Amino acid sequence: MPAMSRIALTLGLALGASAAPNSIVAPTGAEKLTVGLLGDYGWTGWQPLPLDFCNTALPKLQADGVTIPRDLQNDCDPGDRADIANATIEETWTARTAKYIEKVCLKKNCSAFMSVGDNFYDSGVDFTSEGIQRFYEGWANMYVGKAFDGKPWYQALGNHDVVAGKAGVDFQTRIAPLMEDRWYFGNDNLPYYTYDLKGSNWTATFAVVDSDCFINKYQQSTSVYNTDYVIECHKTTQTQVEFLRKAFAESNATWKILQIHHGFISSSTNYTELAPLMDIVRENNGVVINGHDHCMAHYQFNGTNFVLTGGAGYAEAGDCNYGVPMGPFTKWLGANAQQAANGFVTLDISYNALHFEYYARDMQLKGADYYPVAHDMVPSYSFDVTKHATKV
Ligand SMILES: *[C@@H]1O[C@H](CO)[C@@H](O)[C@H](O)[C@H]1NC(C)=O
Ligand SMILES: *[C@@H]1O[C@H](CO)[C@@H](O)[C@H](O)[C@H]1NC(C)=O
Ligand SMILES: *[C@@H]1O[C@H](CO)[C@@H](O)[C@H](O)[C@H]1NC(C)=O
Ligand SMILES: *[C@@H]1O[C@H](CO)[C@@H](O)[C@H](O)[C@H]1NC(C)=O
Ligand SMILES: *[C@@H]1O[C@H](CO)[C@@H](O)[C@H](O)[C@H]1NC(C)=O
Ligand SMILES: *[C@@H]1O[C@H](CO)[C@@H](O)[C@H](O)[C@H]1NC(C)=O
Repeated sequence: MPAMSRIALTLGLALGASAAPNSIVAPTGAEKLTVGLLGDYGWTGWQPLPLDFCNTALPKLQADGVTIPRDLQNDCDPGDRADIANATIEETWTARTAKYIEKVCLKKNCSAFMSVGDNFYDSGVDFTSEGIQRFYEGWANMYVGKAFDGKPWYQALGNHDVVAGKAGVDFQTRIAPLMEDRWYFGNDNLPYYTYDLKGSNWTATFAVVDSDCFINKYQQSTSVYNTDYVIECHKTTQTQVEFLRKAFAESNATWKILQIHHGFISSSTNYTELAPLMDIVRENNGVVINGHDHCMAHYQFNGTNFVLTGGAGYAEAGDCNYGVPMGPFTKWLGANAQQAANGFVTLDISYNALHFEYYARDMQLKGADYYPVAHDMVPSYSFDVTKHATKV
């Protein structure tokens, strides 16, 4: 190794060791603080494996008893392949949605961003050359500009992030915060954590939990999500339940918010396994923000508000039942019979209210308008939560 790189390496390691991870946090003291909520966004840079490999080589390898790594299986997934059959359009949309978020956040002065997971399609990222490339391409270099620079991203994991197993979780919770100060994943290198945002006379306690561990079907040996990490953390879901109970119980905050990937209530799949977490949210009069379904929606179920913010990447109308409410729990769906809207949700936090605004993007493309929104710099839908959280 040349002397120069040795010095650089030593210096790099020294900086890494001394620099506090997560050094950026949201500003405190505001009467009203605006944050951006988004999820299911990390498609840019994903390349499915060659069809020849998936259709011809893979079955032969399987027949010969070769163990196929989960990420290779997943990168051959026919569903995800169909989703990006529009190929470049898919990625262009994702990048355009990033631009749209930038425009709205410049107007609204977003101070932080909260992710509900699926940060990297199709199979997460880990500490490999490809993982590092994707980290920059799909996130660090995509969300840049005045609206994003110096703003913390409070991250969470989704099912696509855990395909890479423990190595992938380690990358997102421990390595990424050291690579970029904006990437926030708590201080304990754990996939669950809590943080407070503090205003002039209010506090909001957020708790992040990894719902992947709770999903029963991910425990089937045929599931691409049945990785070392998911097998292990499924055995300790009670740890996360107790973590949430404690985080909310120890908080006197004005507002309490659970930030999680899967939807307990949905127009596509209700993940009822999450009930123990929802009981705690309900007892504290909290709010849930989630993703997983690739669309935006507002649900109200059993007294709890659910903000679905899954439209920042590839929007899918079926996930919002093609815009048709499945019951009175549905307050708004960002979808029509053909298309779901790309977009995200802003949250204005103040003492008097949590004010949610749903920004659906006018999806102009090649002369057609796939999801027409007359004025997409104003929210397509909004609602307020005014009843403060309770102390349990
Ligand atoms: C944006 O919000 C931050 C945090 O509340 C505040 O300090 C800053 O003054 C705001 N900027 C503008 C232009 O309103
Ligand atoms: C907190 O500040 C808001 C103004 O943002 C005001 O309306 C409210 O009465 C204040 N509440 C308390 C308890 O100080
Ligand atoms: C490609 O996108 C267009 C616009 O939303 C849509 O009409 C078409 O069904 C998509 N094709 C596939 C294979 O998803
Ligand atoms: C929460 O409020 C209780 C009393 O209402 C108080 O004893 C406790 O110290 C407070 N906790 C925090 C973290 O402020
Ligand atoms: C989710 O649960 C609600 C309430 O029980 C139900 O109305 C709805 O149909 C369920 N959604 C799905 C996709 O099954
Ligand atoms: C609804 O809330 C009640 C408590 O108010 C609880 O006992 C019940 O299990 C909840 N139902 C569902 C489906 O979450």
